[in-house]
Amino acid sequence: EKGTYPNYMLKEIDEQPAVIRKIVMAYEDDKGQVSIDEDIRGAIAASDRLYIVAAGTSYHAGLVGKQLLENLSGVPTEVHIASEFSYNMPLLSKNPLFIFISQSGETADSRAVLVHVKKLGFRTLTITNVAGSTLSREADHTLLLHAGPEIAVASTKAYTAQVAVLSILAADIANGKGMELDFDLTKELGIVANAMAALVDQKEVLENIAREYLADTRNAFYIGRAVDYFVCLESALKLKEISYIQAEGFAGGELKHGTIALIEKGTPVFALATQAHVNGSIRSNVKEVVARGANACIISLEGLNEEGDSLVLPEVHDALTPLVSVVPMQLIAYYAALQRGCDVDKPRNLAKSVTVE
Ligand code: F6R
Repeated sequence: EKGTYPNYMLKEIDEQPAVIRKIVMAYEDDKGQVSIDEDIRGAIAASDRLYIVAAGTSYHAGLVGKQLLENLSGVPTEVHIASEFSYNMPLLSKNPLFIFISQSGETADSRAVLVHVKKLGFRTLTITNVAGSTLSREADHTLLLHAGPEIAVASTKAYTAQVAVLSILAADIANGKGMELDFDLTKELGIVANAMAALVDQKEVLENIAREYLADTRNAFYIGRAVDYFVCLESALKLKEISYIQAEGFAGGELKHGTIALIEKGTPVFALATQAHVNGSIRSNVKEVVARGANACIISLEGLNEEGDSLVLPEVHDALTPLVSVVPMQLIAYYAALQRGCDVDKPRNLAKSVTVE
């Protein structure tokens, strides 16, 4: 089933442009615009706050989703780690709508929250890759990811599919409220798919970056600001779980509040610079770590790039940059793991779906 690929993870990374195109087709209405069905639109319109609940990579997609939902459609949105929800239960608004993001649709931590909030009588929506999964069956509504089966334990195409579907949801809510978006999402997702395709074609460059920065390091840092910070959390998780290199994602401005103490000569620091409004500040954070000996690898968006950047991402709409910036991070983690002789599809201690709480 993995055809000529050496493993599933590489195949699934490569499938991402096709997954985005498939999502656009699946969600396209008769006017050629991406939209969601009326039931879900109505349920969201009737709620005053969205509560996203998820684990791991799906939680990271939720963080990006919150930004999309709040920025594009003005709906207050919170994101919660499923396994913490019952202990750190947020104060709920009057009419909450719960959104469960889960590739497998079987994550026990997320299901426990679903069962709990259903008992309280709240509306629920599951965003999942698996039709007929537990979380899909038990929620009032489902949005499918259309990513095709994800076999590798490390989630790649499901993450980008989740972000893409959340962008469609956000745009649809905005439309429903009569808010004019200043861009055509259907068209912009097409541009994203092309940008992803260009990035997965740069394997040699990314393999070399992995070798140069990660060959014999014990740790690595990822820094970014605004939405790039959320992609840094996901990038660090990818590296940790398949290469066993200790990695952390940080908000660029937080470094000076403690983490910078960990920077030594040669410490790899990956910096994402895809957001115009924070480009100056993330670049000064890079200078701060370089001054302390870090080996910095800057990945920037075309138009914001500067001399010395290691990789320039093709330009896409600034609300959608996570869809492209995560791709080189997945490939860097992949090659680092391969170079260290790790089993990329089946990392130690991990299962594809976590069905225990
Ligand atoms: C990381 C990864 C996990 C899952 C998490 C949630 O690559 O795959 O962090 O994202 O276990 O799984 P789902 O999305 O199936 O609920």
